[in-house]
Amino acid sequence: MEIVVSGIRSTGNLHLGNYFGAIRNFVKMQHENHCYFFIADYHSLTTHPTPTDLHDSVKTVLVDFIACGLDPDKATLYIQSDVPEVAELYLLLNMNAYLGELERCTSFKEKIRTQSNNVNAGLLTYPTLMAADIIIHKAHKVPVGKDQEQHLEMTRTFASRFNRIYGVDYFPEPVAYNFGEDLVKIPGLDGSTKMSKSENENSAICLADSPEAILKKVMKAVTDAGPTEPNQPKPQPIENIFQLMHAFSTTDTYNHFSNLYDRCEIRYGDMKKQLAEDIIAYTTPFREKMEALNQDDAYLGKVARMGAEKARESAAKTIREVREIIGFKRM
Ligand code: TYM
Repeated sequence: MEIVVSGIRSTGNLHLGNYFGAIRNFVKMQHENHCYFFIADYHSLTTHPTPTDLHDSVKTVLVDFIACGLDPDKATLYIQSDVPEVAELYLLLNMNAYLGELERCTSFKEKIRTQSNNVNAGLLTYPTLMAADIIIHKAHKVPVGKDQEQHLEMTRTFASRFNRIYGVDYFPEPVAYNFGEDLVKIPGLDGSTKMSKSENENSAICLADSPEAILKKVMKAVTDAGPTEPNQPKPQPIENIFQLMHAFSTTDTYNHFSNLYDRCEIRYGDMKKQLAEDIIAYTTPFREKMEALNQDDAYLGKVARMGAEKARESAAKTIREVREIIGFKRM
């Protein structure tokens, strides 16, 4: 059985990008693999949440995980900070992670641009913490969205470097995984190519959003004055709306609006209304499950404790073996 590991940062409700890029595959993979799915709360500290916000957002992601169909009896669902062995492996990997390669990482360069007042060491070493998360369970496959591709490449570098330095064949080199297809990137409603909550709340639709909120956000999505000649390529914001329609509407609906676009007869208002309706139909069952789970702290606590116990067992074994390989032997 192959080992699958993946995580989601605890920054509140999951959005459609998280679902399509990652969670949907977690749900599919949990049946036939040995899966570890976790809430990356150490990672979320890079943006300095208050203790209350940190706690609330961890609970929110756990609720969303279960509402989306992750089964705590099939996959190990846990909270990253419940497994301090991850922090030890992070420390050990950092000794062989070099400033140049960390600084060249696209996500780090992006953070320098977007949060220049808070470029902390946690951001710089974000890829080593991610590598620790993955290789602590000796993972083979990591279901993630397109934006995580480079982090996976760095994980392979750190894993193979460890093997080379110590002359062992200990860590497998894990791959980003999407059932043989290209990794997914769901676009934002603000014209950007990636749906994300961090830069613009209104660019992302959360699975927990009410029908009213979804309609409002979709109707506000960026568009233009419309095509002036038949069969023109679509500008990015328009392409985004078509991509979302491709993900959430039927093929017939997509083709209908695509033909209207090609004939310069498109009315974006009609298209957005249809898209909002289809997203609402898609997300409503999730939202209803979330509402019920949110009331059940006893169950959530039980899931988190059970996950922590299983994840720690696997992590502690790796750390014991890694310490031995490195030469931390007891006197
Ligand atoms: P995070 O929390 O930003 O995103 C979680 C997952 O959702 C995917 N994703 C998307 N996929 C497609 N389109 C989008 N617009 C979109 N936005 C987000 C991400 O690719 C990711 O798979 N560093 C990770 C969390 C993490 C992790 C790990 C992941 C920590 N340790 C170990 C895998 C393995 C992150 O910030 O993801």
